Amino acid sequence: MRIEKQKYDAMDIFEKIGECKSELPEKYLGFICQLIKENRPAKILEIGVSAGGTTCAILNCLDKLGLQSDVYSVDLSHTYHYDTSKECGYQINDAAPYLESIGRHHLLLGRTIAEVLPEIVQDEKFDMLILDTIHYLPGELLDFLVCFPYLNDDAIVVLDDIMFAHLGENTNAIATRVLFDCVVADKILPGCDGLPNLGAFQLNEDTKKYIINCFSALLFPWDYDMDEQQLGAYRNIITKEYDEELVCCFEKGIEINRSSLGKRCRIKEEIKSIMALCSEYDVLIYGAGQRGKALYSFLQDKGKHIGGFIISDDRNKEAVYDNVPVYHLSEINEQKNRVILVAVADGEVIRNLERRGLDFVNTPNYIYPFIKQYCGIFC
Ligand SMILES: C[S@@+](CC[C@H](N)C(=O)[O-])C[C@H]1O[C@@H](n2cnc3c(N)ncnc32)[C@H](O)[C@@H]1O
Repeated sequence: MRIEKQKYDAMDIFEKIGECKSELPEKYLGFICQLIKENRPAKILEIGVSAGGTTCAILNCLDKLGLQSDVYSVDLSHTYHYDTSKECGYQINDAAPYLESIGRHHLLLGRTIAEVLPEIVQDEKFDMLILDTIHYLPGELLDFLVCFPYLNDDAIVVLDDIMFAHLGENTNAIATRVLFDCVVADKILPGCDGLPNLGAFQLNEDTKKYIINCFSALLFPWDYDMDEQQLGAYRNIITKEYDEELVCCFEKGIEINRSSLGKRCRIKEEIKSIMALCSEYDVLIYGAGQRGKALYSFLQDKGKHIGGFIISDDRNKEAVYDNVPVYHLSEINEQKNRVILVAVADGEVIRNLERRGLDFVNTPNYIYPFIKQYCGIFC
């Protein structure tokens, strides 16, 4: 791991245009400029533009270094995400009169990198790639995989928000961290205090050899699916550029994630129907272990009334919950308008309930991670 201490300053462009809307702090812009100074990339690809502040700093840096590099900036959105009355990359227009390299800048909006790559690759590969987009998987991981065949052997890749899962709004925002840690390459971090939120790596002879690590990381849970057109563009590149084993890994990543994303939708539906039952019926929860207690706390927090717990006859009532009625199964008789929510994964319990002719709903295993996480935060 190399720690980069120097910095090269291209911030004066923001004094000229009167505002800096780069989402990267000055220390990270300085780090990127330093990497440009040291590596003199002839072709740069930036994915994730926003207002275009970082693009301005890059173009200004190229001017200062006298480099005639081509810069491609790609963003899925046509508008600036913090103010949709403005165009994505509007700061690049503001800065254009002050930038010589503006003539070699290309802004491509409204499409993913997989959709635009075929038209921007041409003969020359990229020497530098800057990834700063969605931060949720597959996100930057998949974007890197489609770009990798079009990167030169010693290209530099910069990743923003490698600590975002700890600093941002959601602990699932791990895409750049996963890529940074799975890729085999020479890692470079800015020399600042604490854990930097931006990092880079330089490809080496092992990156291709171990690229399967990055494909394998597609098996981590994704946060979103893509429509068939977008996915098709990624699939075309992966199929064209990688061997069968890696293509198979990519397809398995899609398949398993589509299935688990579907399961997450089912969690929502399942919880909605449990809450509806609580509004309609008298409810008892079968099981007063971790699951039963979590389900109880969750439903209470949602304003639902739960009449108490049922436990098997061989369990000790005293050890359960104060203030909540607890019944042995043998004390429960058929009753109209009452339903039992089973919160234990035990086939014998289900058989006992059936034998006794009691109305019950067997709550599925997959809702409990969500319920427990909810209770950990709110209850
Ligand atoms: C964090 S901002 C980029 C900030 C910018 N790099 C800067 O330093 O000012 C993320 C941008 O990524 C874009 N984006 C999100 N998903 C994308 C994708 N799959 N492909 C391209 N751009 C994407 C959003 O529209 C947004 O403009």
